[in-house]
Amino acid sequence: MTHAHHLSEIIDLNGRYDIYGAIHKGLRKAQCELLVRLGNTDFGEARATGDLLLDLRALLALAADHVMHEDTHIHSALRARGTVSTDRLDDQHDDHRATFAQLEALAAAIDAAGPHERSALGRRLYLAFASYIAHDLEHMHEEETVAAPQLWSLFSDAELMAIENRIVGSLAPEKAMAFMRLMIPAIQPAERAAMLGGMKQQAPREAFDAVIEFAARPNLSAEEYADLARRLDLVA
Ligand SMILES: [Fe+2]
Repeated sequence: MTHAHHLSEIIDLNGRYDIYGAIHKGLRKAQCELLVRLGNTDFGEARATGDLLLDLRALLALAADHVMHEDTHIHSALRARGTVSTDRLDDQHDDHRATFAQLEALAAAIDAAGPHERSALGRRLYLAFASYIAHDLEHMHEEETVAAPQLWSLFSDAELMAIENRIVGSLAPEKAMAFMRLMIPAIQPAERAAMLGGMKQQAPREAFDAVIEFAARPNLSAEEYADLARRLDLVA
């Protein structure tokens, strides 16, 4: 259980395994950064707008995947223990899905619009995305302060790691890479080393090398990358 040993270093303040921590940090960071870009991009510029909408759609796809992972692997596990209701979180996930569709409709409207309509639509998209993040920040807070303690009371750390491993195991390689890109720059140096150290021991060498080259190195500062390389004994 070398993988589990390393994952177990990603713990919360109570010393329990933190199933939400890294992915929620990644989503918060990416969503806040995208909000800034939605605010400072000139929607009259076709190229910048095209890049922004591409990144928006990629992020919304990951956010939708994340919600589905929680439904499939976490909420179902909670319900299977039969003691807590996941209705509130399920409703919030349904609200997220409705919001994703509204955001996509706005993005599609911008794609189809002429230069003059685009800035008004861009402002609507900015406001709609800000409102979505506001709800998602509250939702993730509820997961980490209400659902996580329920998980800790009902499951051992080994069981929580097994849930996490089922989520990771369900991902296509390019999705796994996309989630790594979100998480790696969003977490602390020791958390990063624990997560990637587990992967170094567990995953095929090419998969680990690809994560280092395409998810870690381009998304970390030189100092952060040097710290990670030192902690993981990477050859420069
Ligand atoms: Fe959630």
